[in-house]
Amino acid sequence: MLTADENAQLTRVGPGTLMGDLMRQYWIPVVLSSELPAGGRVKRVRILGEDLVAFRAPSGRVGLLGEFCSHRRASLYFGRNEEPGLRCVYHGWQYEPGGRCIDMPNERPESSFQDKVTHPAYPCAEGGGVVWAYMGPASPPPGLPDLEWTEVPEDQRFVSKFWQDCNYLQALEGGVDPAHISFLHGILDARDDGLRRALDQAAAGFGFAAQLERAPHIEVADTETGLLIGARREAPAGQYYWRVTRYLVPFHSMPPPEVGSDPVIHSHVWIPIDDDHLVNWCISYHPTRALTADEVAQFRAGSSIHVMDYAPETSEAYGDIRPIQSRANDYLADWEAQRIRKFFGVPGVGSQDKAITESQGNYDRSLERLGRADIGIIRVRKCLLDAAIALRTRRVPPPALDPAGYRVRPAALLLPKEASWVDAVLKTAATG
Ligand code: FES
Ligand SMILES: [Fe+2]
Repeated sequence: MLTADENAQLTRVGPGTLMGDLMRQYWIPVVLSSELPAGGRVKRVRILGEDLVAFRAPSGRVGLLGEFCSHRRASLYFGRNEEPGLRCVYHGWQYEPGGRCIDMPNERPESSFQDKVTHPAYPCAEGGGVVWAYMGPASPPPGLPDLEWTEVPEDQRFVSKFWQDCNYLQALEGGVDPAHISFLHGILDARDDGLRRALDQAAAGFGFAAQLERAPHIEVADTETGLLIGARREAPAGQYYWRVTRYLVPFHSMPPPEVGSDPVIHSHVWIPIDDDHLVNWCISYHPTRALTADEVAQFRAGSSIHVMDYAPETSEAYGDIRPIQSRANDYLADWEAQRIRKFFGVPGVGSQDKAITESQGNYDRSLERLGRADIGIIRVRKCLLDAAIALRTRRVPPPALDPAGYRVRPAALLLPKEASWVDAVLKTAATG
């Protein structure tokens, strides 16, 4: 059980907060590289409570600057994207991507004022088709994380993102919660053809009936970079079926893959926009082959973890990735389906997760009643708080700063009952 103070420590992310300081130690995805054409329009973004603008100078260099001009706070969203930097349209001050003011045309030529002005700016790097920012104190920053999805060829991955109307933590908690799958995403009527087929397909790889225990036994193990969260179910021939989620401090999670001989792997990055919203980054990739046109079409249509049916775009931060399904329209729930067919009538797995975590509101975790099935969530919170407190009070570097520590996969394994699931995951799930 958390205290109200711990709840606040875990969920507040602005500059100077405990969790905000921890998260600023890590590279943070900002936008897709393709969203920033060289010399093109500026995008508003908001990360960890900071209003920023992202742009790509005509030379190709990406910049991430504080949104409001250092002069008199006009928005640089309207800035002119000129080489070698972004120029405010109010009085013409120009900033290069590193934040130096390089031109101040409204001052007399003999003035040296421009040399005294440095605008907030964060280093950016690109990997996996994504622009990442480093908002922390290290100079130079650590290397970009060696996540497998960032290193496979472009045709082997699919990356989408959507805006979510809640604190980052409950969204992340849903991502490391194996106990909700049989319910939130479950079906009532096993005669339903489409759903039945999907379940049978899922089980075919392991050759046993699709019927999974609804309350798996859950265990958690520490790793150098975060946690393994294992959900164990009975399987034939004296075996256990383990589905293992990966959690990497502070905001990456990887659900266990779909079962089968050739599974696509999924991953989330849960990035706080501020204390009340997040960007849910959703990645599906295959380590060794291109995704098929059919797989990509399904992701685009909102299958699996993706939610891509967006409301009309606005120029606010992440105003182009706000899903149509929202609290205001009951997430387009089909109440009749909920009565007879599905446990929860909202269409789409990703939308179901979004709807239910948004329904929690920005809540106080001291009011919860946690059971044994919540052990993964308890340990993720502890991981985050321990790392943030160690950083704040003892200047202990947080875990998972080494890029190589990200070379991991989640797992779905059939193992003899006496085998160590942790050893098995560590042996089989590590990649190059
Ligand atoms: S407010 Fe930007 S140059 Fe004056
Ligand atoms: Fe879910």
